[in-house]
Amino acid sequence: MSNDDDRLLSPNSNEDDQQVEKSLRPKRLAEFIGQEKVAEQLRIAIAAAQARKDPLDHTLFYGPPGLGKTSLAGVIANEMGVQLKITSGPAIERAGDLAAILTNVKKNDVLFIDEVHRLNRAVEEVLYPAMEDFALDLIVGKGPSARNLRLNLDQFTVVGATTRLALLTSPLRDRFVSVHRLEFYSDQAMYEIVARAARILGMPIIPEGAMEIGRRARGTPRIANRLLRRVRDYAQVIADGVITVEVAQAALAQLEVDQLGLDENDRRLLRAIIELFNGGPVGLSTLAAALAEEVDAIEDVYEPFLLQLGFLQRTPRGRIATRRAYDHLGVPYSERSADDPQQPRLFS
Ligand SMILES: Nc1ncnc2c1ncn2[C@@H]1O[C@H](COP(=O)(O)OP(=O)(O)OP(=O)(O)O)[C@@H](O)[C@H]1O
Ligand SMILES: [Mg+2]
Repeated sequence: MSNDDDRLLSPNSNEDDQQVEKSLRPKRLAEFIGQEKVAEQLRIAIAAAQARKDPLDHTLFYGPPGLGKTSLAGVIANEMGVQLKITSGPAIERAGDLAAILTNVKKNDVLFIDEVHRLNRAVEEVLYPAMEDFALDLIVGKGPSARNLRLNLDQFTVVGATTRLALLTSPLRDRFVSVHRLEFYSDQAMYEIVARAARILGMPIIPEGAMEIGRRARGTPRIANRLLRRVRDYAQVIADGVITVEVAQAALAQLEVDQLGLDENDRRLLRAIIELFNGGPVGLSTLAAALAEEVDAIEDVYEPFLLQLGFLQRTPRGRIATRRAYDHLGVPYSERSADDPQQPRLFS
């Protein structure tokens, strides 16, 4: 069997994506655009820790994907002038794996744990004393001769990231001294992020073009970076290479990204609630089944921005599409929906 990978004209575009994402990742606080409240709190905490020659307090970032949690972990390590060690909840399978990582962490280093809500129980148990007392509790020996051994670790910082704060166990959450919620970025910040990325990647862009892309990237830097590259392709092939506002609009229209930045997946979700479930309420798992999507993808990726736009409501009985969602899709809205007592919904 011949290896089809060898015949690809542009092999491994994923790797390429990762390369670009890396080059665009802000490395210092001064480069980190937006999230002013979080950035200012970090600036103070970092300056204070450095003055004391202590590690930064354990820090947790939460919020939707692509808003800069991983970037901030790197920024913290760079600003502190320490090593960054990266791992993730699902990657640490056994307590021993974490113990091995922890014994290699040097004074004031940053241990970044991505998807920290996915740590398993046994691993968490090891993490608690490590975070609290910088100690590793080991059990040596077996049976009646087993005894506890406490190993001291260097003082270090855990930076955790999660898209799902609610899934963190409370003992773990309590061990993070500062907890920061990342918000969707403002239009101004998004403009600056697009302009910066275009500068780094050497793309000719007109400010209005950058504004248009930023405005339609769902307040999410990762989406902005992705759209920018697609628009650049369009500009090269269809226009004369310069990203003007007209080029941006035409390219985004072709990508089916609408005025508000919603793409086909977002609209499909709203349309399903409206057309299949009469506007809701519809339970999350029912909705996921109807869309053939993962429940997690709906909750983590699609919903946050739709909630922010006020297109979707979460109720105890399920998801509801609001009047705004109808208006945006151009579907006539009638009062018949959600709370009509004539139509009790048993299965939401
Ligand atoms: N404040 C920012 N300024 C400029 N670019 C940013 C900023 N935040 C994020 N980015 C860009 O967005 C990309 C995605 O950010 P990052 O990987 O840090 O997000 P994340 O919150 O960790 O996402 P996930 O939850 O999917 O892991 C980065 O590679 C970077 O290019
Ligand atoms: Mg990340």
